[in-house]
Amino acid sequence: MARTTTRKVGILTAGGDSPGLNAAIRGFGKTAIGHYGMELFGFRDGITGLVENRYVELDGKALSGILTVGGTILGTSRDKVHRFPVDGEPQDMVPTVVENYRALGLDALIMLGGGGTAKNAKRLLDAGLNVVHLPKTIDNDIAETDTSFGFATATEIATDAVDRVHSTAHSHHRIILTEIMGHRAGWLTLAAGIAGGADIVLIPEIPYTVESVAETIKARTARGSSFSVIAVAEGARDVDDTSDYQAAQLLVKAAKTPEAKRAAKAHLAHVEDAQREHSFRLARELEAATGLESRVTILGYVQRGGTPCAADRLLATRLGAAAADLVARGEFGVMVAARGESTEAVPLEDVAGRVKLVPLDHAWIQAARQVGTGLGD
Ligand code: F6P
Repeated sequence: MARTTTRKVGILTAGGDSPGLNAAIRGFGKTAIGHYGMELFGFRDGITGLVENRYVELDGKALSGILTVGGTILGTSRDKVHRFPVDGEPQDMVPTVVENYRALGLDALIMLGGGGTAKNAKRLLDAGLNVVHLPKTIDNDIAETDTSFGFATATEIATDAVDRVHSTAHSHHRIILTEIMGHRAGWLTLAAGIAGGADIVLIPEIPYTVESVAETIKARTARGSSFSVIAVAEGARDVDDTSDYQAAQLLVKAAKTPEAKRAAKAHLAHVEDAQREHSFRLARELEAATGLESRVTILGYVQRGGTPCAADRLLATRLGAAAADLVARGEFGVMVAARGESTEAVPLEDVAGRVKLVPLDHAWIQAARQVGTGLGD
């Protein structure tokens, strides 16, 4: 056994489920238990289990056979540790978590999750816990890491869907809009749209106009193509909706008191809700503008399902193993970032609260434009 003073470690999965979570639990667990002789405790359902002190000891047997399993064997939730619902009222449960962590005699806590989990991890770090965060999300929107596990698998799934809707598009001479996840970022839609050969790719970072999208379709028709396939991000918006959304975001940023922030966040949620059906509205507008029948396919949770692809299994395993090495060396308060073929420990304060959006000069955007893909602008 390699030497370390770290003996007992907790691990949890939080936020949206994602392919690769179990591969990461396995990568961390096999290294921590097998290489360093640590004891591992898995908290159920993310932050909820940590608050409610619900956990299970994970041994070699528990980790066997989970590399290829989708979702998370521990369960997950989207709860926030500082606004945890108690009888319907948000409560700060950080002290309770610290108490549970100390009572179990933990030396460290591994938190697998996305941007929200990084914020939870930072709060627990500030309360004195030894935390390490692993970047998980199909959205690939976590700052300071090349990528996150879940993204590669979701790209495969969404690309397959874009491939497949081409059949009905060319058979029926239709416009097919395939709505792809990604929350507030366009990474997944851009990747799957390019890989799937979509004729138009609409992402949140590039507000679109119906006129521009219709022009691209009409130009295709003039060249003899009787159909078009559009990959549209769930967070994509036209120019007008984008200005409404950005105005609502500014109100949240400008809010000075907790009450004002809550009101501004409620308004932002209302605006997001009102814009949620944007793909169906765009389909109707394009049908009117081009005379082509339009249909919408929302990929939804299919993109998060099933076994992780090889790339995600490899990424999750190496991030998990690297996290175990960090914890063994007593390095905490960091996210294990993917950096090329290797990893890098990035301070949590550089990650928490930030979202990685697609830069407008990104190589993927340039490549899309060079092959003639319409981007709605
Ligand atoms: O963060 C992953 C994700 O799938 C986003 O792409 C999507 O917007 C969100 O989760 C859906 O959240 P929920 O699983 O809570 O419906």
